[in-house]
Amino acid sequence: MKIKKAIIPAAGLGTRMLPATKAMPKEMIPIVDKPAIQYIVEEAAESGITDILIIISDEKSIIEEHFSKSPELEKKLKAGGESKKELLNEVIGIANLANITYIKQREQKGLGHAVLQAKDFVGNEPFVILYGDDVIIGEDPCTAQLCRAYEKYGKGVVGINKVSRDDIHRYSSMELSFMCENIYKITDMIEKPTKGKEYSLFSILGRCILSPEIFDILKHTPYGFGNELQLTDAMREIAIKDGLIGVDFTGKRYDMGDKLGILQASIEVGLKNREFGNEFKGYLKELVKTF
Ligand code: UTP
Repeated sequence: MKIKKAIIPAAGLGTRMLPATKAMPKEMIPIVDKPAIQYIVEEAAESGITDILIIISDEKSIIEEHFSKSPELEKKLKAGGESKKELLNEVIGIANLANITYIKQREQKGLGHAVLQAKDFVGNEPFVILYGDDVIIGEDPCTAQLCRAYEKYGKGVVGINKVSRDDIHRYSSMELSFMCENIYKITDMIEKPTKGKEYSLFSILGRCILSPEIFDILKHTPYGFGNELQLTDAMREIAIKDGLIGVDFTGKRYDMGDKLGILQASIEVGLKNREFGNEFKGYLKELVKTF
């Protein structure tokens, strides 16, 4: 079955990025010239997703504005003629990436609680969850890699990568066994493990495909780490009962909820920029000499 629906939870408080996130959602923080959430919506669209629900908080209507039509701006760019044509097409394209709808998460009670808001949108189909602050850039869109695994194995799929031993306590840790190529069977998991409690250095990084059974599970899942309803705790029930498929995806993932992650994304994407990438490289080379 082809997966057509995706949800993007983007209602978190973004406390790690304060004060930038006091009034602006972290999902709108740009990498060079494009907000993080646009990279994520583009990845979904390139992977065959047609319908996207973005879960926003009361303060985040700016996300909605970003993906809607901008008649005034379009008029101005049109008047700019040939020199503004590329920008005009880009602006028009943003509003046509997918059918995007929005729902509000009124209280920030965790990622699992945000996902629960999507029950009616999802209906009876499997769906993708793309975490709103995880940008993954690569030739083969990460969501497409997961969709292929879902079509092949017919089970819930999570995108995994290895993280460093020093960092694993900030993420989740997977109990898994190798199946083939970059595919693993996941049989248990733990959110933000304390030292010695980690199963492996493989962690879920920002993408998963689940069936609607997750909503019933979330309803009886107790509040976990940080007194938040953790999606990992609900997925754990599926992993133990049926097993989940882990795809060690290709592509570079940037944590846009983290200061260092944002800087890394800006530098790496900036270096590849066709307009000023070479100039930027020269600047950085000179700069590092002074340290
Ligand atoms: P995070 O835990 O990284 O987001 O959730 P956060 O709570 O904003 O992070 P802090 O405050 O800096 O630690 C991952 C994704 O889930 C969304 C976030 O917006 C982010 O995209 N989320 C998180 C929600 O939609 N609702 C929530 O209640 C929590």
